[in-house]
Amino acid sequence: MNKISIIGAGMTGSTAAHWLAERELADLVLVDVVEGMPQGKGLDMAEAMPIIGRDAKVIGTNDYAATRDSEIVIITAGVARKPGMSRDDLLKTNAEIVGKAALETLKHSPNAIFVVLTNPLDTMAYLTMKMTKLPRERVIGQAGILDSARMRAFVAMETGVSVENIHCYVLGGHGDEMVPLTRHSNIAGIPLREYLSADKLEAIVNRTRKGGGEIVNLLKTGSAYYAPSMACVQMAEAILKDKKLIVPCAAYMDGEYGLKDMYFGVPVMLGGGGMERIIQYDFDEEEKVMFAKSAASVKETHEALKSLVKF
Ligand SMILES: NC(=O)c1ccc[n+]([C@@H]2O[C@H](COP(=O)([O-])OP(=O)(O)OC[C@H]3O[C@@H](n4cnc5c(N)ncnc54)[C@H](O)[C@@H]3O)[C@@H](O)[C@H]2O)c1
Repeated sequence: MNKISIIGAGMTGSTAAHWLAERELADLVLVDVVEGMPQGKGLDMAEAMPIIGRDAKVIGTNDYAATRDSEIVIITAGVARKPGMSRDDLLKTNAEIVGKAALETLKHSPNAIFVVLTNPLDTMAYLTMKMTKLPRERVIGQAGILDSARMRAFVAMETGVSVENIHCYVLGGHGDEMVPLTRHSNIAGIPLREYLSADKLEAIVNRTRKGGGEIVNLLKTGSAYYAPSMACVQMAEAILKDKKLIVPCAAYMDGEYGLKDMYFGVPVMLGGGGMERIIQYDFDEEEKVMFAKSAASVKETHEALKSLVKF
């Protein structure tokens, strides 16, 4: 059985473990700083396995030694922004948490591929790569699968067509400036722009951009976790099964799309080697403007990180 370690056994981390165990994709180790909580969640999940007939072993721990020889490490550890906390304070706190998680797991799993979920996503993926000094193929950020899935869900709600027929591509940074590509999106090959009126499409694009906030407002405490964790599962499965799956993820840019030394949401091919290729789309002028605006916003957070953390 493959092994996946998930750092941060909160809502996204434990839900990812739940989906992964249910699919019998790997043995799972949940790591958290809170004493007892990961152990309790791990044991509870392990006790569910006989009922569904899966032999995935699930454990929770506070000790990184248990993560030894993981094929994949998923980092979801972090804190949410609290009232009175500045963006820079959040950045500093999560950078310390993610940096430590990445280095500790790397010690025990030198060959692992890292999937990062903690926000601010693009910058935490950048930090993970810089701290671990791993090649870019082995550090991938999750954002685009989730943002695209939200858009697909909204199109399905509007049209009544199966989600399986709906293909949407949301690129760019994981924030309000994300780039939903309506020109490249389609329903069973029919361009979305032909299927839906401009008004309806614009409403879907706006709702997608604010998709995370919509859930935060409804939940009151915490943020989305079912769809984000499922996006991590799709990435892990594509890597473990060497699927060569093309999905939008945050990847390290080394000249692609005219961007350098930053993480950004682009279509990538996921396989056994991790992020095996960046796929280049042709953009029209409008898309180029949206892309540049989003890149500037991500770059700003990267710069803030560099002023706070030395790597
Ligand atoms: N990229 C995305 O699309 C996306 C989507 C959803 C959530 N997120 C982000 O993922 C992160 C986790 O979200 P969540 O809903 O699971 O939050 P959560 O608060 O439920 O879980 C976070 C967990 O991290 C743990 N933690 C804190 N410091 C730690 C440390 N040093 N070592 C190990 N564990 C530590 C906490 O104890 C907690 O259990 C947040 O940063 C959130 O913004 C990103």
